[in-house]
Amino acid sequence: MAVLPITIYPAPILKRKAKQVPAVTDEIRRLLDDMAETMYAAPGIGLAAPQVNVGLRVIVVDVGEPVPLLDRTEPKETRRKLYQLVNPEIVAREGEVENEEGCLSIPHFRQVMKRRAKVTVRALDRTGKPIEIAGHELLSVALQHEIDHLEGKLIIDGLSQLKKEQYLRQLKQWEKEQAAHVPGEL
Ligand code: NI
Repeated sequence: MAVLPITIYPAPILKRKAKQVPAVTDEIRRLLDDMAETMYAAPGIGLAAPQVNVGLRVIVVDVGEPVPLLDRTEPKETRRKLYQLVNPEIVAREGEVENEEGCLSIPHFRQVMKRRAKVTVRALDRTGKPIEIAGHELLSVALQHEIDHLEGKLIIDGLSQLKKEQYLRQLKQWEKEQAAHVPGEL
């Protein structure tokens, strides 16, 4: 497994519609594993293939908190649960929630998004078997956010051109400051 470089806005691949995966091959499984590794390393709670520069309908999501294996007092639902999904599709939606979201491809940016409170997602798992997931709360939001990525939709899309340009200027400034900071320095 490898940590892949994350594609940063405004890279064109982030605005492109990703392609359907014809078959879940070893190559796709490797992509799923590298994406999981990349998401955990970031750290993030979801990642879509275009964010690692691959235009395929593949996402990974894990909204659980990492907990030590031996900590049995931790409630089950906060444990890590990794979803590795190929060709995911929302087949049912219910309710509405508003949530402030961030995106690994859009550093230092947060946006309040209106999402469906519950979604049912149909996809293929890493073995190519069809599965269905009922997502509530954060899992529902994360699934919608990642599936939006496959459509080339980003949480920054709702901003005016002026605001987007402002953000990009700010981003360049942050990158410059980061580059100026020598690792190991205090
Ligand atoms: Ni994102």
